[in-house]
Amino acid sequence: MLTGPNMDKPILSVEHLSMKFGGLVAIGDLSFQAKRGEITALIGPNGAGKTTVFNCITGFYKPSEGMIRMSGRDGQEFLLERMPDFRITAHAKVARTFQNIRLFSGMTLLENLLVAQHNKLMHASGFTVLGLLGIGGYRKASAESIDLAKHWLEKIDLIHRADDPAGDLPYGAQRRLEIARAMCTAPELLCLDEPAAGLNPKESLHLNQLLNDIKENTGTSILLIEHDMSVVMKISDHVVVLEYGRKISDGNPDLVKHDPRVIAAYLGVDDEEVVDVLTAVGDDQVIEELDAEPDPAHGPSASSSMMAGPISDTIAHADEDNGEIVKVSPGASKALEYDELQALNARKAKAAAKPAAGKARAKPAGAPKGGRK
Ligand SMILES: Nc1ncnc2c1ncn2[C@@H]1O[C@H](COP(=O)(O)OP(=O)(O)O)[C@@H](O)[C@H]1O
Ligand SMILES: [Mg+2]
Repeated sequence: MLTGPNMDKPILSVEHLSMKFGGLVAIGDLSFQAKRGEITALIGPNGAGKTTVFNCITGFYKPSEGMIRMSGRDGQEFLLERMPDFRITAHAKVARTFQNIRLFSGMTLLENLLVAQHNKLMHASGFTVLGLLGIGGYRKASAESIDLAKHWLEKIDLIHRADDPAGDLPYGAQRRLEIARAMCTAPELLCLDEPAAGLNPKESLHLNQLLNDIKENTGTSILLIEHDMSVVMKISDHVVVLEYGRKISDGNPDLVKHDPRVIAAYLGVDDEEVVDVLTAVGDDQVIEELDAEPDPAHGPSASSSMMAGPISDTIAHADEDNGEIVKVSPGASKALEYDELQALNARKAKAAAKPAAGKARAKPAGAPKGGRK
């Protein structure tokens, strides 16, 4: 078991985080914690702000407001929102994978995993040519790097393809390789953006096993964005749900699964009930049209890859055109509608309890019952 002064503290505390793009509030006043050694899932409908949270944690975006505190195992504290992305990887030991796979397609699997360990190797060389030629610790570090790369290739069942170009791998295998590459940086926090996207059920099962293995055997904590609920509910210790950049639920998988606000956000609220509520609360409450132009002041920095180098020669996938940005029309939050329904129901119940109180505004339409379909 790993030990250290910060073992009891949450590995990550996100406090009052906001990220605005022009007029669009992609994340609004978000606070949550991820415990060390656990798998914390960040879920929510498309455009909820999940990838934006990752981009803030990994230094890809600078948040408009808020704090992201990471506690290192050895007692060091990092305020990630103040650090450039390459330091977040190297010092705070945060690694990530991307919603759209980013591997070096022309390099072999082994090379991809060695490049990930570049920082460690350069330090071992003392940044000198003699160092690179094998004087000092470089040779040992280099052998260790190869061992680590082999270890992860075995873990992901791809050791037999070590010398093949990464671009030749099937999609599911590329996803696993991306995780292996992140693990080769020996991260304390591994952030995975939709690792199960595009996987078949068998691959998805393998992914669950891999993530559980990482959790049990490496001490790395995992922050997971995932759409596939079978993955989320099976392997997460803790789930945080976002909708339109706001947190609508936070707890263990069972609690979140049965939270009516989450059900409303995913399945929608009954249309008739919505009309009822909107009439009752007034149209002003409906979220106004927002300008969603990219904001260069907060855009990605020049070096935004996991390894802090420009991304070239990476593998393209079908949805690459849109990048990882999902366009959502700024609509009304279903969780908010659910809350409004509850408030309306409470008011109606109160009015019914006081029959002669003279409330003339109640609508004759059938009273909403559960707030969901
Ligand atoms: N660089 C950007 N410029 C403008 N809008 C952005 C940018 N990145 C994300 N967004 C917007 O922020 C919202 C949240 O997006 P995202 O974090 O990708 O959602 P998710 O990952 O939950 O699907 C979306 O409305 C998206 O269009
Ligand atoms: Mg996303």
